[in-house]
Amino acid sequence: MDVEKVFHMTGGIGKTSYAKNSSLQKKVSDKVKHILIEAVEDLYIETTPKSIGIADLGCSSGPNTLSIIKDIFQTIQSTSHKIRHHSTEFRVYFNDLPTNDFNSIFKALPEFQKLLNQDRKNEFPSIFMGGYPGSFYGRLFPNCYLHFVHSSHCLHWLSRVPPGIYDEEKKSLNKGCVYICDKSPQLVSEAYYQQFQEDFSLFLESRSEELVVGGKMVLTFLGRKGPQHVDRGNSFLWEILTRAFTILVSQGEIEEEELDSYDVHFYAPSREELEDEIRKEGSLEMEKLEMFEIDKEQGRESHGTEFAKAVRAVQESIISNHFGERILDNLFEIFATLVDEEFAKEDIKPITFVLVLRKV
Ligand SMILES: C[S@@+](CC[C@H](N)C(=O)[O-])C[C@H]1O[C@@H](n2cnc3c(N)ncnc32)[C@H](O)[C@@H]1O
Repeated sequence: MDVEKVFHMTGGIGKTSYAKNSSLQKKVSDKVKHILIEAVEDLYIETTPKSIGIADLGCSSGPNTLSIIKDIFQTIQSTSHKIRHHSTEFRVYFNDLPTNDFNSIFKALPEFQKLLNQDRKNEFPSIFMGGYPGSFYGRLFPNCYLHFVHSSHCLHWLSRVPPGIYDEEKKSLNKGCVYICDKSPQLVSEAYYQQFQEDFSLFLESRSEELVVGGKMVLTFLGRKGPQHVDRGNSFLWEILTRAFTILVSQGEIEEEELDSYDVHFYAPSREELEDEIRKEGSLEMEKLEMFEIDKEQGRESHGTEFAKAVRAVQESIISNHFGERILDNLFEIFATLVDEEFAKEDIKPITFVLVLRKV
């Protein structure tokens, strides 16, 4: 599977769209917003730019996309007022993979521009916004172009399913699991880790070229607590999804081989693994690495149902590419029930990292 061509959040504003099912990600962003605001304030004071460049990597579409930019804009406005330095230009670049629903963002921009204009003090700065399709695992922008890079809920997505999990006949060694699980051979976790190292180092190198000295990044993504890959955090949710697929096999909805050959391009790194890559790259100073345990959402429906909708909005492009669209409703109904059953036994608390890096 070519991730760049297939993977996208469900577009538009329909019932299953990411726009309508991203409150979980919003909740996390709100929880860590103080870190974002502090980083933007510091970088503005340190760099006092004339023209400030901001990029949101993996922006997707929906309310979260513009809400983050509004927070950044307002922080810059109030900081510039405090220190009496006014940038003349505010440049915003929305990045995601090419199949992202950029149209929805573009359609919302005129209204959004009006909203930002209401917050402008002294008619400054002029606002410029545009889309930058492409993978963030590689260069996206010219040298020294950006002051601030934001990315939320993206970096746990690898550039591809690690090639090392396949044998010579191109068969997956991770049979019966979609991510690293209890019964995965050692080779599988090694291959996932290797792919993470390759991707994350390329991400760091690329951003380091694009950031000005003193520029910062605030990166929020899923991770894991310790060296063990299998835990009751993120890997457990993949295990529940695997169980839902297994039920579809027993119902004759999908073939066992289809499940055996399905693996996700996901990796939850540990603190040590992140620190190693940052140290090896060498030009980005780690200012902060905080870990959050995310509690379950109190929605109108059961937690399982809410959670299944959120996972579906993220996963359905990939799942339907492999198994076909027809299984989606049944799969996510089963998944919702299994999630509710597990939560009734014991909480599952996904681990989220917030990483703040500064270009030195
Ligand atoms: C769960 S969404 C997060 C959207 C938004 N940032 C938020 O917090 O609600 C993850 C996004 O990352 C994007 N993404 C994943 N891998 C990417 C890559 N290599 N380059 C650019 N975007 C990527 C996906 O297409 C998707 O839109």
